[in-house]
Amino acid sequence: MIQQQAILVGVNLQDDARFDVSMKELESLAEACDIEVVGTMSQNLEKVNSSHYIGLGKVAEVAAYVRGTGAQVVIFNDELSPSQIRNLDTAIDCEVKDRTTLILDIFARRAKTTEAKLQVEIAHLQYMLPRLVGLQSALEQQTGGVGTTNRGAGEKKLELNRRQIQVRISKLQKELETLVAQRQTQRRQRKKTGIPVVSLVGYTNAGKSTIMNALLELSDEPEEKRVLEKNQLFATLETAVRSIRLPDNKSFLLTDTVGFVDKLPHHLVKAFRSTLEEVGESDLLIHVVDCSHPDYKDQITVTNETLAQLGVADIPVIFAFNKVDLVDIPPHSDKRDSVCLSAKNRVGFDSLLELVRAHLFADYVRCEMLIPYGEGDVVSYLNQRAQIFSTEYQQGGTCLRMECRKADYEKFRRFLVHQA
Ligand code: GTP
Repeated sequence: MIQQQAILVGVNLQDDARFDVSMKELESLAEACDIEVVGTMSQNLEKVNSSHYIGLGKVAEVAAYVRGTGAQVVIFNDELSPSQIRNLDTAIDCEVKDRTTLILDIFARRAKTTEAKLQVEIAHLQYMLPRLVGLQSALEQQTGGVGTTNRGAGEKKLELNRRQIQVRISKLQKELETLVAQRQTQRRQRKKTGIPVVSLVGYTNAGKSTIMNALLELSDEPEEKRVLEKNQLFATLETAVRSIRLPDNKSFLLTDTVGFVDKLPHHLVKAFRSTLEEVGESDLLIHVVDCSHPDYKDQITVTNETLAQLGVADIPVIFAFNKVDLVDIPPHSDKRDSVCLSAKNRVGFDSLLELVRAHLFADYVRCEMLIPYGEGDVVSYLNQRAQIFSTEYQQGGTCLRMECRKADYEKFRRFLVHQA
């Protein structure tokens, strides 16, 4: 495949300290789309130029740079408005993309399940809809369409395209709703079992999938249950749910979700809301941070902001500072619940699991109950929800030695023989 070559263009707004990192990230996003970056241009501005994103003089410089390098595409480090795309398209004689299109492209490449594919296509069409005018006029320019008659025909075609896209969005949204309903049923069933749910969240490439695989390995789960871990942005687009067993045999469900990134297009956040809803219903979050990244503090902020955007609040969080093998001094955190990890080298997991255990199973009570044979329902209820150490069939009924939730302990207190 012939690689496209691109020039990146960014506006450094009010001397933003994060500008360089953001441009570097744009380069990684381009690489993830198999685009080779052959040049970078930037401009310091107080605010972006509303018609061309950058100043007109700079536009001419970019156009000259494109001619000089032979690049086929110019990528802007923000989401461009429909009119900015149209104006830039006219002024620079090559394809114009923005940060949002790159992220949408990556998501489209990575989507594997029907649900992820639907979500990405909806986001893409929603992004396209207001931008059709720009694309249309660029098309007409190329085909040399001028004059009133032509313009009338163009407008009709545009209206037709717009309607077709809207119809397609509605159709896809209906399909998605059906899938979401199925997922909600599965979630409800899972909830009934009372097994707590923990979600891994964090910036893209922080190491969430690697942590999940390490935990599966520690729980002796078979190889085929492992999830994809890759040094590429957004390797994980679908939510994977796996059961993890703690050393004392208690288990919880762990979900690995799509990673976050700065300026995650809001259409995508909206489209992926159903996948990310899972996060909002967790009992605990593990916020994974790549502490070897120079900008990790800002990545924490972006993740927190995205969670807030998703309406996730009031869920306890453990901070997992990952990739400590790559730093000389592990980060000092003032967060109450935090651990340092090297997921790759499988270091730090005892402390992580201890924190998880303390959060999820703090209100568990160790006890022994004798349940009369006539109360078989109680035995099956406890078998599902409690940690059973032994079951003995005695004269008076079934004797369970177990650890159960405090609420269940209170509920069945009348059968209590012994409390540890
Ligand atoms: P997304 O799917 O983009 O959200 O990424 P992710 O957070 O799931 O990251 P993933 O687990 O795929 O890891 C990203 C890269 O970081 C991979 O190349 C891993 O091998 C690497 N990595 C993960 N943990 C560590 C670590 O502790 N140390 C080092 N050196 N590399 C790590």
